[in-house]
Amino acid sequence: MLVVLATTLVLNAQKYEGLADTPPMGWNSWNKFSCNINEELIRVIADKMVETGLRDAGYIYLNLDDCWHGPRDKDGFITADPERFPSGIKALADYVHSKGLKLGIYSDAGRKTCGGRPGSFGHEYQDALQYARWGVDYLKYDWCESEDINPKGAYNLMRDALRVAGRPILFSMCEWGQSKPWLWAAETGHMWRTTGDIYNCFDCIDQHPGWKAYGVLQILDMQEGLRKYAGPGHWNDPDMLEVGNGQKQNEDRAHFSMWSMLAAPLILGNDVRNMSEETKSIIKNKEVIAVNQDRLGVQGFKFKKEDGLEFWFKPLEGGDWAFCILNRNKESRSYTINWMDFNLTDEEVSKRSTNFDTIDYRINDLWWHKEVGTTRNQMKTKKAIEIPGHDVVMYRLSAMSR
Ligand code: GLA
Repeated sequence: MLVVLATTLVLNAQKYEGLADTPPMGWNSWNKFSCNINEELIRVIADKMVETGLRDAGYIYLNLDDCWHGPRDKDGFITADPERFPSGIKALADYVHSKGLKLGIYSDAGRKTCGGRPGSFGHEYQDALQYARWGVDYLKYDWCESEDINPKGAYNLMRDALRVAGRPILFSMCEWGQSKPWLWAAETGHMWRTTGDIYNCFDCIDQHPGWKAYGVLQILDMQEGLRKYAGPGHWNDPDMLEVGNGQKQNEDRAHFSMWSMLAAPLILGNDVRNMSEETKSIIKNKEVIAVNQDRLGVQGFKFKKEDGLEFWFKPLEGGDWAFCILNRNKESRSYTINWMDFNLTDEEVSKRSTNFDTIDYRINDLWWHKEVGTTRNQMKTKKAIEIPGHDVVMYRLSAMSR
């Protein structure tokens, strides 16, 4: 009887619910620091996430990426790199928790991580237990050295191991969209990468022998068709943010806006010790974050494309919509909105309609932080708006009484 019960428990191991009702928000070391991380740096990052108001804006996960690992001990348990993390991960987790943040860690389903550190293959239950003992809150699980393993099996194995370890740990799957995880992973992880790695460029591809990394627009285009698979607890992950890493301010604004329209996890990848006012004003924009974090949890969609302009909508709680015009051109464009052209129904997910003929919406410009009229007035005045190159205009439309 006991044996049967134990088997049933393991077979039915589920991911932890309630950890990602809205897209996860935090910071990760990879995009800026790659392998060059150590406990001093991470502690300072924790301090800065609090001092700069990032934590209070919602960025609560502080995630170590690759290269924190040392060797496995004689029993096969993973240890931290003794030179870079001499105090160990438990002490780091305690520090991060004392700041009101949560700690994320990184591993890989194969024998080695992408940075050549020990992977979790064959040590899944041990690793999950070790993370739980250390007080880890989030696991990013990568896919290097995985040639001979099955993705669904490998990710479900780690999900089950995390469950048995007994600590709620958010499970972030990073198999680069290769096996179309959106088709099978809603019960496995809280988010899954949909593409290869992001490249710190707005509109280009970084080509290497055997692999590519993708600019912001390239990644955006690869999200086509995926929105119906995302929702509370299971999100499409178009990779971490490059905001603040050197692209132009307008490009950073467009990047952040589009990730918000996509209901993507907002995982910062910049040096938060040293941020310009422009960077802060982008990543701390409360109204744009509210679009991303909207409780309805519906990923936005592109309604139409014309002359390099894309028109995106995202249904929000309470009958509101987020609306974003993305200008993919390098040069600015002017455009006169006739809201009647945007009478639409989101047949695929929310079944909501905009009904611009019967509903008047108050328009708030989320980057200029001001109200710019109502949809009905705008249709009367027919004023053109300017959308600078590689930039957006982003509105929240709030339904008023009819
Ligand atoms: C892969 C992942 C990246 C990063 C690196 C670390 O490329 O996709 O996000 O974690 O590995 O080596």
